[in-house]
Amino acid sequence: MCDSSSFSLRSSRSSFSLVSFPLVVSRLRNAGCVFAEDEAELIVSAARTPDELEDMVVRRAAGLPLEHVVGWAGFYGLRIAVDAGVFVPRRRTEFLVGQALALSSPRAVVVDLCCGSGAVGAALASAVEDIELYAADIDPAAVECARRNIGGSGVVYEGDLYEPLPGGLRGRIDVLVANAPYVPTEAIALLPAEAREHEARVALDGGSDGLDVQRRVAAAAAGWLAPGGHLLVETSERQASRTVEAFAGSGLMTRVVECDELDATVVVGTRPGGVRRARVAHAAVSR
Ligand SMILES: C[S@@+](CC[C@H](N)C(=O)[O-])C[C@H]1O[C@@H](n2cnc3c(N)ncnc32)[C@H](O)[C@@H]1O
Repeated sequence: MCDSSSFSLRSSRSSFSLVSFPLVVSRLRNAGCVFAEDEAELIVSAARTPDELEDMVVRRAAGLPLEHVVGWAGFYGLRIAVDAGVFVPRRRTEFLVGQALALSSPRAVVVDLCCGSGAVGAALASAVEDIELYAADIDPAAVECARRNIGGSGVVYEGDLYEPLPGGLRGRIDVLVANAPYVPTEAIALLPAEAREHEARVALDGGSDGLDVQRRVAAAAAGWLAPGGHLLVETSERQASRTVEAFAGSGLMTRVVECDELDATVVVGTRPGGVRRARVAHAAVSR
């Protein structure tokens, strides 16, 4: 069954799609798409030719994520390009953005680790003046997307966690965000087919208890954060206590914040020392 809720932007239909619209709706509905009308709107708006429209409908009916079919996802009011195989930014991650925003001042040094499409970094750059933004991911397809989404607002590196970052960032990062993979290996089989079959395994698989990558992020964080700098990691309610352990083990002062509406949990760690000014919480924090 198809289900998509990350789109809120619409554009007008072309003349050929006006003719095709009811047909597209019915084909998507028959394929099990719950929001067939909304999806048809997006697909007919995105298609530039009848052939492209046909191709998109076929791919969506076959179960590709809508975001991969149309090539973008709505995230934090932005249109984020998402290529095949790249992790589709989730609405719950807007809570991570909100928490990071509350801790980011203009000209802050911000790093989006495990950046995927670069959605988190792009959202932060769009909301805080003049941040010095760096992002990194191990997956070349994700890095390509992130470069497009972040554009001139930051620099995107390819490589394993901190390894590709310039050494000059050590001890200078004010806000380090990481939505690293956190699905336990055995739970991947239980994910919806859209994620399991169409997002890269490296974007999902967090190892036996889901926390392998988070632990590596936390273990090295204190060496990269400025005194008083913050590490923010998205996790699940069930895994939060183990994420906290990983943070505490690397000497960070730690707290957990949650948003029931988005089913989102974020662990925030702060490197002791230094007095840092927190921004007044952005409206998004209370979403
Ligand atoms: C859950 S996705 C999140 C992507 C993006 N931050 C977002 O919220 O939409 C996790 C990302 O971590 C990346 N990743 C996994 N292991 C990594 C590693 N060792 N070093 C860098 N990136 C890694 C994956 O390629 C994937 O893009």
